[in-house]
Amino acid sequence: SDQPLVIFTPSGKRGRVAPGTTVLAAARQLGVDLDSVCGGRGICSKCQVTPSFGEFAKHGVTVRADALSDWNKVEQRYDDKRGLKEGRRLGCQACIRDDVLLDVPPESQVHRQVIRKSADARPMVMDPATRLFFVEVAEPDMHEPSGDFERLAAALADQWQVTGITAGPTLLAKLQTALRKGDWQVTVAVYSDHTGAAPLVLDVWPGLHESGLFGLAIDVGSTTIAAHLTDLDTGEVRAASGLMNPQIRFGEDLMSRVSYVMMNPGGEKELTAAVRAALSDLATALAEEAGVDPALIVEATIVCNPVMHHLLLGIDPTELGQAPFALAVSTSLSLAAAELGLTAINPRARAYVLPCIAGHVGADAAAVSLATAPEMSDELMLVIDVGTNAEILLGDRTRVLACSSPTGPAFEGAQISSGQRAAPGAIERVEIDPETKTPRFKIIGTDLWSDEEGFAAAAGQTGVTGICGSGIIEAVAEMRMAGLLDPSGLIGSAAQTGTPRCEAEGRTHSYLIHDATAEGGPRISVTQGDIRAIQLAKSALYAGARLLMDERGVDRVDRVVLAGAFGAHISAKHAMVLGMIPDAPLDKVTSAGNAAGTGARMALCSVAARRQIEEGVRRITKIETAIAPRFQEHFVAANAIPHATDAFPELTQ
Ligand code: FES
Repeated sequence: SDQPLVIFTPSGKRGRVAPGTTVLAAARQLGVDLDSVCGGRGICSKCQVTPSFGEFAKHGVTVRADALSDWNKVEQRYDDKRGLKEGRRLGCQACIRDDVLLDVPPESQVHRQVIRKSADARPMVMDPATRLFFVEVAEPDMHEPSGDFERLAAALADQWQVTGITAGPTLLAKLQTALRKGDWQVTVAVYSDHTGAAPLVLDVWPGLHESGLFGLAIDVGSTTIAAHLTDLDTGEVRAASGLMNPQIRFGEDLMSRVSYVMMNPGGEKELTAAVRAALSDLATALAEEAGVDPALIVEATIVCNPVMHHLLLGIDPTELGQAPFALAVSTSLSLAAAELGLTAINPRARAYVLPCIAGHVGADAAAVSLATAPEMSDELMLVIDVGTNAEILLGDRTRVLACSSPTGPAFEGAQISSGQRAAPGAIERVEIDPETKTPRFKIIGTDLWSDEEGFAAAAGQTGVTGICGSGIIEAVAEMRMAGLLDPSGLIGSAAQTGTPRCEAEGRTHSYLIHDATAEGGPRISVTQGDIRAIQLAKSALYAGARLLMDERGVDRVDRVVLAGAFGAHISAKHAMVLGMIPDAPLDKVTSAGNAAGTGARMALCSVAARRQIEEGVRRITKIETAIAPRFQEHFVAANAIPHATDAFPELTQ
């Protein structure tokens, strides 16, 4: 054939094109994902490809050295000014003359795959709602009068097939100057999601905008608010941070905040203002940390439990305090970020609030399900997202059940005598020698254990500041294994345990982990009160899981996935020793990290993920813990460590 054969890797797509076709045009014809912001003008370099020359038996093609056209002026100019990487060509300039093999590097793909850290996680495919388009807009003409915006709309339709755009007044004000400053060439950021709403122009820059676009994936928990500042082009997390939810001063847990609103009419306004201010503070801090202009943050996705959801939206949560626990709205919401008081970012930024499931099972559970995908599992999978409210999912391909269990804030380090949020300086891992009863620990911010050489120097910057959720879980489980704690959760005396670290405290005892005077920093003990708080929390967690198992009619699950609050990775072994989770083979208990945060980030980076979760939540059955009598029974029995009646055969092996 006199039509050259073009083969693209890694997609493997191939086909014949007319000689002289540009690589970019060939990619379009063959449905290959090759990016372009400037529309083939040779200035954005998003269309780069790497040709290979020689014989490729695997692909059945021989590529001659002159298979692509020589560099033209545009490509030469780009290389002179900006420098093209060795072996790369601009796809919009290089023309195909003969059979050729072309590799599309990840940074040239719109829908590039982002490999997630967690071992069993599926890769995330970039498909952001906001995209950049470089356009040449016609200059105004006295004889054919038309507005700047209409000419922009015509240019976008003509050059990018983006039709029917809309824009708000602040954008229109900016457009006028940008068009003139850019000599009628501008880059626009256009938001177009899966709802079918008209594409919305979010921002405009004179000439080519090259500083990227960013988004915030926000997880509003009862105790901690965590956010990831994410690059909307690459999916890369540029900064991550968390802070305490300032609503804590109105009540530690959700129901006490609902009571506050019930007892103080109009109190929901204070709670709303508090959480909104925290979101803006967090956004400002993250932008600063990443060195990103806050105006380039054009999107936010938000996951939260139903009470947080209502309070963030400014809706009175009182209905959620009583059966039938009706949500004001459970569908996903797409709105202006400014309507949520998120004003520290681009003033026209959009916010997407993930859908809630029902009752007390909220958008956080939806996000966890998006990140862990139980509905795609062949094995029966139990997913537990540990927080002040635990989100629990049980399911496989046939059916997924979900509930929310009020564990209280102990797992997030609150209500614990030396507790703190997971942050540098917090003890996150604990081991106790069963012989000597001596503890060693690791703090967030160093990889060394406390008894290792160099620990003091490594910890010097922050010092030991307290103990976080994963640290307290390990401490209590290790205390049980070292014989410092009986099955009912009572800490033994120094005489009973043989260690002076078990100190009398009134009529109970506490166990000393870190001594301020000897090692610097505060004195950190696990008190009897701490053990009781952890027992209550873990009983609620376990009871929730068992309730779903009852509903499904099983007394074992194939696999347990633990997800934690910001930064915390919960140890499978310790969770099971404590009886937080039902018995399962230890190698079938994995950690998914911050799954709710991951779900928020997936929804931020992909419109397809938004569609997926909106369909997904309709298939999840909600089980309400608050009215299930079995929940109370399981709760009482689960107070023992690990459990009063349920067997834990895997533990004794
Ligand atoms: Fe912009 Fe080729 S498409 S440089």
